[in-house]
Formats: sequence, C-alpha cells, structure tokens
Amino acid sequence: MVFSSLVAFVALATFASAAPSKTCPDGTRVSNTACCAFIPLAQDLQTNVFQSQCGEDAHEVIRLTFHDAIAISQSKGPSAGGGADGSMLLFPTVEPNFSANNGIDDSVNNLIPFMQTHDTISAGDLIQFAGAVALSNCPGAPQLEFLAGRPNQTIAAIDGLIPEPQDSVDTILDRFADAGNFSPFEVISLLASHSVARADKVDTSIDAAPFDTTPFTFDTQIFLEVLLKGVGFPGSPNNTGEVESPLPLGSGSDTGEMRLQSDFALARDSRTACFWQGFVNEQEFMASSFKAAMSKMAILGHSRSDLIDCSDVVPAPKSAVNAPASFPATTGPDDLELTCTSSQFPSLTIDVGATETLIPHCSNGGQDCPSVQFSGPA
Ligand code: HEM
Ligand SMILES: *[C@@H]1O[C@H](CO)[C@@H](O)[C@H](O)[C@H]1NC(C)=O
Ligand SMILES: *[C@@H]1O[C@H](CO)[C@@H](O)[C@H](O)[C@H]1NC(C)=O
Ligand SMILES: *[C@@H]1O[C@H](CO)[C@@H](O)[C@H](O)[C@H]1NC(C)=O
Repeated sequence: MVFSSLVAFVALATFASAAPSKTCPDGTRVSNTACCAFIPLAQDLQTNVFQSQCGEDAHEVIRLTFHDAIAISQSKGPSAGGGADGSMLLFPTVEPNFSANNGIDDSVNNLIPFMQTHDTISAGDLIQFAGAVALSNCPGAPQLEFLAGRPNQTIAAIDGLIPEPQDSVDTILDRFADAGNFSPFEVISLLASHSVARADKVDTSIDAAPFDTTPFTFDTQIFLEVLLKGVGFPGSPNNTGEVESPLPLGSGSDTGEMRLQSDFALARDSRTACFWQGFVNEQEFMASSFKAAMSKMAILGHSRSDLIDCSDVVPAPKSAVNAPASFPATTGPDDLELTCTSSQFPSLTIDVGATETLIPHCSNGGQDCPSVQFSGPA
C-alpha cells in the first residue's frame, strides 16, 4: 500500500515537471516562467508588424531567421560569426549592408523597436521567435520549436557566409555543411520556406515576384513548379541568380512567377533532386521536415542544453488549405524536367484554364498590400 502510493507520487512528479505547470500573468500555462515574456511579444508583432497575415512583412522575417543564423562557419572559426545570435539587429549597419543580404534591412528595421519595448528578450531570441510567429500566419506551416536564451553578447558576422541564388549546388551544399553539418536533405527541407516567398531585389524592374502560385500558403507548389520547364522572365531578362520560370505572365501589380537559379539547380542536381521531388504533394512530410531542419538552424552557435524550451508560447499555425498540389493552368506533366530516377512522380490534376492564372499580389487578395515599415538604422 505504502509502496504503490510512492510509485504513484513519483510518476506524478515526473509528469508535472514536463507539463505546463507555471502560470504567466495573463493566465497562460507554460513549462517555464522564462517563456512568459514571449506572449506579449507575439501579440505585439502580430498587431504592429505582421497584421496576422502571411504577407510581405511575415515573409521578410522568415528570411531573416535564415540570414541571421547561417552566418557561422566551422572552418573559419568563431570570429566569422555567431550563428543565430541577433547580430543582424545588434549591428544593423554591418551585415544588412552585405550584398547577399539585399532587402533584409526592411525586416531588421521592423524588429529593432521590439528590442527596446521587450527589453528582457535578446536580439537572437527576438529574430527566431518572430520568425516562428510570422510562419504561424501561413496556412499549412508547422508550429516551430522555439528555444529561448540566446545571449546578446556577440559579434558582427563577416561577409560571404550567406548563400546567393547564383551560387552552384556545390557551393550551397558546402556552405550549409560548414555552417552546421546540414545534409542535402535538410537543405531541401529548409527551402520549403520558398513556398511563402517573393523577390524584390533580384529583378528590381518588378514588384515582389512570387516563387510559386501560392506565395501566402505554406504548401508544396514550390516543389512542383520549380520542376516545370521555364518559358520566360516575369520582368527584365538575365538578372544575376534568376532563370526562366514556367509562369512569367503578369498583369498590373500581379507579378509573374520568378525562379531562382539556385532553386532550379537544386531541383535537378543528382544529390538533391529526389529529396526535392519527394516533397511534391506531401504536405505533412514537407512541414515536419522543415520543422526539424529549422530546429537545427535556429540554434546555430548555441548548445540546445543551454536553452529553455518555450515552444508552448509559439502560436498555433493557421490550418492547411488541404488542396492537393496541382499543375497550374497551361502547364502539365509534359513540362516536368525530372532527374530523380529512383521514385515515381505523383499523379496530379491540372488546373483548368486556357491562359496562365495570375498570381494575387497581396495576401488579402487585393492590389494594395497592407504593409508596415519602420524606419531604422539598417
Ligand atoms: C540555397 C539557399 C538560399 C538561397 C540562395 C536563397 C535566396 C533567396 C533570394 C535571392 C530571395 C529573394 C530576395 C529578394 O530579392 O527580395 C529569397 C527570398 C526568401 N528566402 Fe531564400 N534563399 C535560400 C534559402 C532560404 C532559407 C533556408 C530560408 C528560410 C528558412 C529562406 C527564406 C526566404 C524567404 C521567406 C524569402 C522571401 C522574402 C520576401 O518575400 O520578402 N531562404 N531567398
Ligand atoms: C556598405 O557597403 C558599401 C559597398 O557595398 C560600402 O561602400 C559602404 O561603405 C557600406 N556601408 C557601411 C555602413 O558599412
Ligand atoms: C539586447 O540588446 C538590445 C540592444 O542594445 C537591448 O535593447 C536589449 O534590452 C538587450 N536584451 C537583453 C536581454 O539584454
Ligand atoms: C541574355 O543573355 C544571353 C546569354 O548571355 C544573351 O544571348 C541575350 O542576348 C541576353 N538577353 C538580353 C535581353 O539581354
């Protein structure tokens, strides 16, 4: 009798230590009170930057999580950069000025004010948490892990550590391996982020050219559409890092699709083509693989054991649209450029239509996108 109640007590205590047993001032239950500060931060970001949309301001911060984190090098040593350390925000006139970071200034300036208004949170935590909040606005996205406790003390990274769209597959895979032992599969997993992406700087003759037909949805269209034969450029031709896309037609501010040379090459290279193709129409697999690779990227430069798991304060993402991947109107299986020979391409439907479907310019369906831009030092 005594023995069995002791067992019950031990079991209960073990359970309680992992469960959300602490209560934040707003009533939210968390596993560690250090996580409470992120609850008002999430609300503040949603209200004052993202507007709870998977729009431009959210996309830019998702890109920032990558450009802050990847600036670290095992071969060059600690003086090259501290990884996911907030150095973009702490040295806003240095890294954002590197050409590979072109356009990152918007997100840097949008986050800088939050360092003062949420001053118990470090710059590195702010970037990775803001990225997780931004992503939660994109239907189909995973709820990212978030670990807190990156210190503010760090250095500005050197130039040359951010992959560029004109880089070869060799260069890109080497860079990811040198930054954090990322495998080719993890590199392709991270590129699921390009499902919610548009380019402003690759071709400055057009405004925010989307990488797939659904730039406000975290879905697998990017993996399908990059495999289609390119037929033209949405804006001016021959920009560095850009190749022809399958859907270049635009109208007014509805910009045609743009394709990065790096995405094109990674989708066809023998080391990565099967991983790329393997995400087509595999929403859950893509989302979970992205989540796993992001967990690794978000803590580059840190030990997992030094950080506190605050995943319970990451907002639950909007649910997936649940539309299967499909060939955009005017394209079809004959346009596929497949190099993966070890697996069969899935059978997908073709969207009906005699002309290219225009891709909506704004996440709200309109032409005049709601956007926030704070001025700042970057
Ligand atoms: C091979 C590695 C990569 C290359 C070469 C690359 C390159 C680019 C380029 C050139 C742009 C367009 C920037 C502009 O003109 O505005 C872009 C956008 C973007 N990238 Fe990547 N990227 C890579 C990996 C990643 C990763 C790992 C992530 C995140 C996990 C990411 C997230 C984004 C997002 C969200 C955007 C859209 C930004 C916006 O819409 O404002 N990228 N990327
Ligand atoms: C930014 O980079 C340009 C060259 O790309 C350089 O001329 C300029 O001095 C840099 N600015 C800062 C603040 O470092
Ligand atoms: C990190 O540095 C920024 C900029 O100086 C500051 O506003 C913020 O309060 C610091 N955060 C922490 C946790 O020290
Ligand atoms: C684009 O580049 C190709 C190859 O260098 C060249 O033949 C073509 O004339 C260029 N097109 C334009 C419009 O500059």
